[in-house]
Parts: sequence; structure tokens; C-alpha cells
Amino acid sequence: MGITYRKLSSKDLVDYREIRLESLKEYPDSFGASYEDQKIKKKLGFEEYIEQEHPDKFIVGAFDNTQLVGICGFFREDNAKRMNAGEIIQMYVKSKYQSNKVGYWLLQATLDEALRIKEIDNVELGVYASNQSANTLCEKAGFEEYGFKENQFNDRGTQLNRRLMVLSRDKHMTYR
Ligand SMILES: CC(C)(COP(=O)(O)OP(=O)(O)OC[C@H]1O[C@@H](n2cnc3c(N)ncnc32)[C@H](O)[C@@H]1OP(=O)(O)O)[C@@H](O)C(=O)NCCC(=O)NCCS
Repeated sequence: MGITYRKLSSKDLVDYREIRLESLKEYPDSFGASYEDQKIKKKLGFEEYIEQEHPDKFIVGAFDNTQLVGICGFFREDNAKRMNAGEIIQMYVKSKYQSNKVGYWLLQATLDEALRIKEIDNVELGVYASNQSANTLCEKAGFEEYGFKENQFNDRGTQLNRRLMVLSRDKHMTYR
């Protein structure tokens, strides 16, 4: 499968909105945000950062030719005390493309981009414990659990346990 990976830019905004809303609609229990809340927004939260080509807040896309088939985001807070860390968010691969390592290489491409920011030592993420494919994928990329939040509620009131995971810069280099 000839998939390519690159950061999204302004020209990808329409496709980004479509795939992000699809992910929330198709997998409501994989994400904190809900399709119903997001679809009524004129602009999704990340569209502004994509437009700005923000260096600390971006989405990497997986493309089959010109079609956007997967997304994975990175977010670094504007908090001076947390400048050495950022978070992986919004990871999604269209169902037709799943289980072909697209998710794995999309995550690697996003980590590569994130670690271009020289201050970043650790990349974090949160994954619902019941999400088997995402948990396996993150562990295969070297993420390790550092916390466990029981009884978290998503926007739909579903009760889920959330695993908090971290990957250090050094570990990414050995796993890559
Ligand atoms: C999670 C997700 C991004 C993984 O993408 P993917 O392209 O299917 O993942 P990959 O093919 O790269 O698989 C990586 C590993 O995950 C595991 N995996 C993949 N699909 C799996 C499944 N259905 N069940 C269990 N494990 C699975 C495999 O062990 C695989 O490694 P292997 O092929 O060496 O055995 C994708 O399933 C998805 O978009 N799910 C819905 C949204 C979601 O849950 N997002 C994550 C939010 S944290």
C-alpha cells in the first residue's frame, strides 16, 4: 500500500474537517469529543492551527494518492512549565485502511515531527483502556503507562477508564 505522510496545510482544511467528523461519528467511544458537538461548529478547534501552520500544534495526514485516509495530531501547551512535553491527539485511520500499519507509520511520522521541536523530551497520550487496537499500537511504538484514570466520562456520558501513556525522546529513537 503506497501511503505517504505529511503535515496538513490550509489546502487540506475541507478534507480535515470531513475525516475528523467521520472519526467522531464512527468511533464515538474512542474520543473525548462528540460528533454532535463538533459538527455544529463553523470551525473545528484545530483548523486555526492548520491555517497558521503552527509549529507546536499540527496534524499529520496519511494519504493514499491525494485522498486523506488517516490523521494524527500533536499539541504542545503554551505553558512555560510544560514546554518540554506535548500530546498525541485525534489519531484515526479510515476503517478500509486499518490493520495495514498505516496507524503505526502515521504515529511515527507525527512523533518525528513533534521531536523536531528541540525542547520536547516527552510525548504523552491518553487512550481508553477498552480500545484494544489503539492500546496495542501505542505500546508497539514504545509508549508506557504512567497513570490510570478510572471512571472517566466522555461527552456522551459513557463511563470509561483512561490509560495515560508517555514516550521519551530517547525511547522513540530506539524504537523508530
Ligand atoms: C487505532 C487505529 C488508529 C490503529 O490504526 P491501524 O492502521 O489499524 O493500526 P496498525 O495497522 O498500524 O496496527 C498497529 C498494531 O495495532 C494492533 N492492531 C491493529 N488493529 C487491531 C485490532 N483491530 N485489534 C487489536 N489490535 C489491533 C496490531 O497489533 C498492530 O500491530 P501488528 O500489525 O504488528 O500486529 C485505528 O484502529 C483507528 O482509527 N481506530 C478508531 C479510532 C481510534 O480508536 N483512535 C485512537 C484514539 S486514542
